[in-house]
Amino acid sequence: MRRRSFLTLGASVPLFSVFSSSGCSSSDSGPAMDSGAPLDSSTDTGADANVADTSADAIAEADVTPSLETLPALPLLKNESTTPGLFQATLRAAPIKLPFLGGTTEFWAYNGSVPGPMVVVREGDRVKIRLENGLASQPTIIHWHGLEIPPDQDGLPMSAIAAGKTFDYDFTIPEGTAGTYWYHPHPHMLTAEQAARGLAGVFLILPKGADPLPAYEEKVLMIEDLKLAADGSIADSDAKDRMNGREGNHLVINGAEKPTIAITAGTKQRWRIINACSARFFRFTIPGHKLTLVGTDGGLLGAPVEVDEVFLAPAMRAEIIVTGTGSAGSRVAVKSLSYDRGRMIGNLISLDTDLATLAYRDDAPGTSPAIPTTLRPITALAAGPKVQRIEFAEALVSGEMTFLINGKSWDMARIDWTEQVGVTTEWDVVNTGNMDHPFHAHGGSFQIVSRTIGGVTTPETLLAWRDMANTKSTETVRIRMRLPTTGLRVVHCHILEHENQGMMATFDVKA
Ligand code: C2O
Ligand code: CU
Ligand code: CU
Repeated sequence: MRRRSFLTLGASVPLFSVFSSSGCSSSDSGPAMDSGAPLDSSTDTGADANVADTSADAIAEADVTPSLETLPALPLLKNESTTPGLFQATLRAAPIKLPFLGGTTEFWAYNGSVPGPMVVVREGDRVKIRLENGLASQPTIIHWHGLEIPPDQDGLPMSAIAAGKTFDYDFTIPEGTAGTYWYHPHPHMLTAEQAARGLAGVFLILPKGADPLPAYEEKVLMIEDLKLAADGSIADSDAKDRMNGREGNHLVINGAEKPTIAITAGTKQRWRIINACSARFFRFTIPGHKLTLVGTDGGLLGAPVEVDEVFLAPAMRAEIIVTGTGSAGSRVAVKSLSYDRGRMIGNLISLDTDLATLAYRDDAPGTSPAIPTTLRPITALAAGPKVQRIEFAEALVSGEMTFLINGKSWDMARIDWTEQVGVTTEWDVVNTGNMDHPFHAHGGSFQIVSRTIGGVTTPETLLAWRDMANTKSTETVRIRMRLPTTGLRVVHCHILEHENQGMMATFDVKA
């Protein structure tokens, strides 16, 4: 048996209660339950699940009989409406103390859980969610990352509400947008801190009709990066965090560090992976296993693609099918491979990291239906009438490093350019900086057309809907985006410290 350290033991059970004190529970029968496929069948059974005791005895016992099922299921945001097609609920952002490594840590959390409760809705649903700002003194607002909804529902910094106030969202989920999204705060200059303190959750949109994929066992993996001080509190960001983007010292999935994900040999599982970290770039892989990429930020691909690894820059999502080709009882590390994201304070090279363990159950091998060869039609967007240049740059301004778009720091009162509603817009996202900047656009999904670096242009071969496109130093990424609604939208770097420091721009979509 692999010897597990104290830290790993503490972390092999959920670090936090992912169950809120306000009635959210993974057994709530929300929309997820009638989807035909349980969203996550991992349950915390067995002695491991509730270990509060970190005595030597407890460690020794856990060492001998590790639970195979330690990936915590995300709590669901309970639908309080009984009207079909209406999802109604409240998200309260507030400080809360949660158990961590034998002590307690003060997080800022939605409904008392880290990550926040998972919202599960269907295409066509009307969503009425009340945000309550229970933070001590900061304004906040929720941005529904990737959703194609009107600007006044999008949670722009301009919509932020003061501490003690509420905001009532009311929007409809557009057809054809089923996929894996997430939500996080977006107040001006405070997004990075609020996310780092625990405010973020998963937002799943299920298809209105039948899901093109068979009902495989399903897991949702929300990856977050916690930076904790020696006393267990969430560390403040330092100058290096602000420049490089904050990297923590505890990578957690659904609140658990290096969890074990159980699989039955011979079966397939559908994993929805969300990179909710501010500055971690993953090359997600399971050694000895082929992965099948079936979806990106904006939902399913046209057709599945076999891959060895999946690249996930901050805020990106992927849906993959994991085929259990290992043998019963075996274990394999789920890893992120080394990645070089450029230079800022030092070289930003991450090493191979173990994220989780894939553990084969001891039961008899099973089978799963084959992955369909086509998933849904995706039409390539045609070229737009103009090409808008969006340049990410880093610059020293009177001794301070600043992060700019088209030479400017974000100004809430300024509109940087205009677009026309219903017309495909074509953008060249140019990175003249020294490090990767993951580009994000609000208001819907785009397609990547090509990448140019060192004078060589490589057309994108994967036809996919995205709201994220990583840009490497000296690279230009050309994208095409549909703009279905009028109003103000923003683009920004999704290293949240860079966004905080001005690497954001506003465009106005005109009628
Ligand atoms: Cu997740 Cu404006 O971003
Ligand atoms: Cu967004
Ligand atoms: Cu950046």
